[in-house]
Amino acid sequence: MKSILITGGAGFIGSHVVRLFVTKYPGYKIVNLDALTYAGNLENLADIDQSPNYFFEKVNLLDVNELDCVFAEHAITDVIHLAAESHVDRSIHSPLDFVYTNIVGTVNLLNEAKKYWKEDMENHLFYHVSTDEVYGALGETGFFTEETPYHPNSPYSASKASSDHFVRAYGETYDLPFVISNCSNNYGPYHFPEKLIPLFINNIINKKPLPVYGDGKYTRDWLFVKDHATAIDTVFHNGKRGDTYNIGGFNEWKNIDLVKLLIKQMDEKLGNEPGTSDELITYVKDRPGHDRRYAIDATKINKELGWKPSVTFEEGLSETIDWYLENTEWLNNVTSGNYQQYYENMYANR
Ligand code: NAD
Ligand code: DAU
Repeated sequence: MKSILITGGAGFIGSHVVRLFVTKYPGYKIVNLDALTYAGNLENLADIDQSPNYFFEKVNLLDVNELDCVFAEHAITDVIHLAAESHVDRSIHSPLDFVYTNIVGTVNLLNEAKKYWKEDMENHLFYHVSTDEVYGALGETGFFTEETPYHPNSPYSASKASSDHFVRAYGETYDLPFVISNCSNNYGPYHFPEKLIPLFINNIINKKPLPVYGDGKYTRDWLFVKDHATAIDTVFHNGKRGDTYNIGGFNEWKNIDLVKLLIKQMDEKLGNEPGTSDELITYVKDRPGHDRRYAIDATKINKELGWKPSVTFEEGLSETIDWYLENTEWLNNVTSGNYQQYYENMYANR
């Protein structure tokens, strides 16, 4: 029987992956390991946390003894590693937090897998979930493929790039079976409102300014989080060991165009006159080292593994907005306390 350790399962993407695996695979034991930082929230899993195949361990990746206990106690057979510090703006203010969790934490996890799987490596899998940001920035044209050289530009992406290299190095050096996927920007329910889409949804609800960085023409490639979860399921089960898969939706948006679509959908849903929230758009000081454009070529995962996204951006965005409008308690809980201080510090000088 598989006993899968999913790290970061109380976070945004992790909670969708845990939910999918717990419900789709009742024969698998799913162990969610999460330190419950500001980004981790067990409310994200309230609908499945009583399932008999679900277990939670509040453990920090930096605590090697605790990690060791989890591997021993649950006889972990596979790892899907999502736990990370994930916000670029935070990485600009506190790069070392990203070095510790994203690099040292990943190496700690690799060491545990190597130690517990050494007798029969081939029966196990270390799946590392990474980001397209490791490739750096694109110009007006072109796409990131699996062959694009790494060129990280932020402390966040540098830490993720480093963790990708460590995973690959453990494969080469110690024969640890691994697979890596690099995904574009996710959006959807349970997204912490420090990132563009949930932050702007929250600000539109509260009629607060929408802080657009720089000229607003930075471009991102957006994927609905539930589609990322199905891609992870596909790569976990069918991906070639030692390989990398890019995951994306061929869905590029300039930030300002995305913000206008968001405003349009939200004004409709809130019963506002069309364009009411336009006046909230506020151009602010740019993010340092801001990558101009990301765009994923997801041909390989489509051709080799048959995965493709299930919803259009308009559908996914509409479902996302509905979720936030119906889950105001979740939103209020995560935006109280330390969030207020974070918001003041991050946007005071912009
Ligand atoms: P998130 O910030 O929402 O969640 C991260 C989770 O990791 C939280 O639950 C947090 O408590 C946990 N965590 C943080 N530090 C930890 C530590 N030291 N020990 C144990 N747990 C710890 O992140 P997310 O947006 O869900 O991203 C998940 C993963 O997917 C990350 O590895 C990220 O790099 C990658 N990714 C994210 C996106 C995106 O658009 N959000 C896109 C591509 C890849
Ligand atoms: O590409 C994948 C990455 O996407 C993930 O690896 C990261 O974990 C995830 O946070 C995300 O990174 P971005 O930096 O692209 O996401 P963010 O939501 O922070 O910003 C999206 C775009 O919006 C970016 O161009 C910056 C801009 N932005 C963001 C915020 C928070 C604004 O203009 N104003 C804002 O207030």
